[in-house]
Amino acid sequence: MNLELLKKLCAANGVSGHEESIAALIKDEIKDLTDDCKTDALGNLIAHKKGPGKKMMLAGHMDQIGLMVSHIDKDGFLRFASIGGNSHHYLMAQRFVFPSGLIGVVSCERLDDPKDMAIDKLYIDIGAKDQEDAMKQVKVGDVCVFATTPVVSGNVFITPALDDRIGCFIMIEALKRLKKQAFDLYFVFTSQEEVGLRGATTAAYSVEPDYGLAFDVTISADTPKIRPLPSKMYGGAAIKLKDRSLLCHPTIIAHLESCAKKSKIKHQYEILEMGGTDSGAIHISRGGVPSGVISIASRHIHTANEMCALSDIEDCIELTVKALETKID
Ligand code: CO
Ligand code: ZN
Repeated sequence: MNLELLKKLCAANGVSGHEESIAALIKDEIKDLTDDCKTDALGNLIAHKKGPGKKMMLAGHMDQIGLMVSHIDKDGFLRFASIGGNSHHYLMAQRFVFPSGLIGVVSCERLDDPKDMAIDKLYIDIGAKDQEDAMKQVKVGDVCVFATTPVVSGNVFITPALDDRIGCFIMIEALKRLKKQAFDLYFVFTSQEEVGLRGATTAAYSVEPDYGLAFDVTISADTPKIRPLPSKMYGGAAIKLKDRSLLCHPTIIAHLESCAKKSKIKHQYEILEMGGTDSGAIHISRGGVPSGVISIASRHIHTANEMCALSDIEDCIELTVKALETKID
């Protein structure tokens, strides 16, 4: 697998609603491998790879969580609105980068009790002299994302935006490895998942799939005192059973299980109690679409240092290839 491509995807700035730079990167990688590749009004990149049989829509979201400047105070400090599921614990003391390259540091106003820390007590410091100086560099509505650099270290990949550039990456690598196909395939790189599966909703409407298959991170339930759940790092490709947005369809679960077993691909099951992903929107489109998800167990989701195992990435890619090459009967 091309880890340099994964690094490039994760380093790109693509907060929800601003997925253009990711879409351009992906389009460059896949346009010669697909029959048609275009962006829709909401920013989804929809690539069609013609094939026999029923229509399958694959979905991985391009967007990532971030912050939007909501106010610039008289001293030049920035207050912000959250885009997607941010937690004050994870924002505090982190560097953020704006599309211009400007860096801001998140800090907290002085508190009498540290327990009072909350998102509205935090501010972004871009090192401005005063309000006027700040306004030369940013304006209300500007967005920024974690500035951490993606790295491969030991057996793992550590980066911001693993959620969900890893899903996009698995789809791209699978597309490159595909030798035959059992479906008419739509590779959809979606927009605005982190704010409510919005891109997948409109893409499912226009693609009209017979099956849905999404790719996303899920919790690795192996960190200290975490609630026991079935998915763990190094456990292989995770076949989702349910999350807050969907109950995976038995047909898709069975298809993924049988492909993994036949090809001896390491796999596990996954249940997520918080959050959802694109199949949540796909499965309730039109008259209903049997849908499932291949997940990658990740630690520290929605932080500046999301982490997954290299071996699990490979298992997810292999399972995807087999799932697209094998008919559902
Ligand atoms: Co997310
Ligand atoms: Zn995600």
